Amino acid sequence: MKNGDAEVDLGRLRHDFTRFMMSYKFGIDELITKINILKQEFTHIHRYSPIEHVSSRLKTPESIIDKARRKKCALTLDAIRESIFDVAGVRITCSFISDTYRIADMLSSQTDIRVVEVKDYIANPKPNGYKSLHLIVEIPVFMSDRVQPVLVELQIRTIAMDFWASLEHKIFYKYRGEIPPTLLAELTEAAESANKLDEKMESLHDEVVELNGDTEN
Ligand code: GTP
Ligand code: MG
Repeated sequence: MKNGDAEVDLGRLRHDFTRFMMSYKFGIDELITKINILKQEFTHIHRYSPIEHVSSRLKTPESIIDKARRKKCALTLDAIRESIFDVAGVRITCSFISDTYRIADMLSSQTDIRVVEVKDYIANPKPNGYKSLHLIVEIPVFMSDRVQPVLVELQIRTIAMDFWASLEHKIFYKYRGEIPPTLLAELTEAAESANKLDEKMESLHDEVVELNGDTEN
């Protein structure tokens, strides 16, 4: 191959890769707009916000390639689109456990969202105590010349679940996945305390709602 051809190929690859990453960024933007609409409308009706915080992230090219290698997926954009579901990620932190399911239901029932997968680690926590509701959703992104369906990994959890998961994540990295058993046991205990707090906050909230007679809640 001549040098000029290689340059053209590389230029093309860079162009296609940028469009690929942009489609995921737009998928995140669309989902966040939907979440903000739900948040504002819910707050108007129920006089409290079920959503405390929304964050998002795009996987880095390095981490996409690492995951593709781990999954023995071909290093082409089409293959990556088909087998890696968390290039785009959105995380919603809710006030109460019931809100996590409410938000998930509200988004899932929207006609332009297709739910590809649900993992309910709230009902079925991981052995270490990790809790969160995970959805892989497909959302259409209207590009200049086509409609690109984009997958987004959506994690919905409470503040207490999020607090626990961030600490566990830090510890996991510090020990490179080999957390000492005593620390692991303490973490699992902390997850139980976080869960107790969540249940207590939810029942207090329910009592206040009953006192206020908010029948819409
Ligand atoms: P990956 O492909 O490795 O991302 O996992 P998976 O396809 O089995 O998906 P899963 O739904 O189990 O986890 C996806 C994401 O949830 C992870 O990338 C983390 O952000 C989060 N997660 C899952 N398990 C844990 C955990 O034990 N601790 C923490 N802190 N986060 C977790
Ligand atoms: Mg992941």
